[in-house]
Amino acid sequence: MKAFQIIPSITEYGKFADFADAADLGSDDLILTNKYIYHPVIAELGLGCQTVFQEKFGGGEPTDEMVDAILDELRGKEYGRIIAVGGGTVIDIAKVLAVAAPEDRVDDLYDRMAEGLVKAHPLLIVPTTCGTGSEVTNISIINRISKGVKQGIVSGAMFADEAVLIPDMLMSLPYGVFATSSIDAMVHAVESYLSPNACAISEMFSIEALRHILRGWKRTLEKGGGEAWKDCAQEFLRASNYAGIAFGHAGCAAVHAMAYPLGSVHHIPHGQANQLMFADVMKKYARKRPEGKLESLGAVLGEELGIPAKEGLNGLYRLMDGVLKRAPLREHGIKEEELPLFAKDVVETQQRLLNNNYVALTEDEILEIYRNAY
Ligand SMILES: [Fe+2]
Repeated sequence: MKAFQIIPSITEYGKFADFADAADLGSDDLILTNKYIYHPVIAELGLGCQTVFQEKFGGGEPTDEMVDAILDELRGKEYGRIIAVGGGTVIDIAKVLAVAAPEDRVDDLYDRMAEGLVKAHPLLIVPTTCGTGSEVTNISIINRISKGVKQGIVSGAMFADEAVLIPDMLMSLPYGVFATSSIDAMVHAVESYLSPNACAISEMFSIEALRHILRGWKRTLEKGGGEAWKDCAQEFLRASNYAGIAFGHAGCAAVHAMAYPLGSVHHIPHGQANQLMFADVMKKYARKRPEGKLESLGAVLGEELGIPAKEGLNGLYRLMDGVLKRAPLREHGIKEEELPLFAKDVVETQQRLLNNNYVALTEDEILEIYRNAY
């Protein structure tokens, strides 16, 4: 059995300035971030840190081309710690930079992964969304354009030394990004809870994350939605972190696996793609094995939402719909004839995730779930 561990130190600060002070950020440090995050909050502190703006090297999810271009830019520069301040893309890139030797390219890291990667720079991560939980996990998903595959780089050396939670850094998030990232965190919490690889401690983090998210969503909607979520920014950031700790141990499963083609083929944001698959995966689980952990999940949901346990999941779907209205797959430009290809692709390429399913699903069952969500 895999031992439960939390590797990074986790700290919380009110403002970025408090963190900069405590960590004594200065000219030896390299900040990887985006310009819209850097200005004005970090720039105005005059820290003298070296900076790399990720968007200069391409948009969207991290690719080998993007990371190689950043490695080229950094070649010959002297820096110690890497400070990642951003969402999933910035964090995933920073984890790779932290284990890259001066002459490395991304392909070299994949080649050396089996023998083990070595940390080249201490890594501090400040997440600016409330979804990925990536600040406490040791995996980066890179789209290897040169090979035509999306593949994870995983290594114990890619854990951050410090995960830094600063709710103030969430304040510039648009509502849509808040919605999809908090949905992503909710799915991390549920999938890690139901995973056969969960343990009593990881379950505690899953459930606590879920409770924080449900309470935050309820309060946000009671206050009329919109910007009201910002009053709960700290709760959402902690929830995302707890869910990251939980899935770092127990893993994500079918919802994430089935969401991947929606993201890679149709560019639906990660959290939203998860939402599109979530209810129909849970309904299939309930038909195959209604007893067991699905029952205890229902009890937690029922308790938080003030409804009977057997209605818990339906209550969650309704609440999530209030946060972000879900439309069937067909309304997202997906064609029915694509569904069998998606199902086949998921079975062929996503076994890492499917191994964490609450119940095993065949290719036919995966196709049936896609059809129900269609
Ligand atoms: Fe996710």
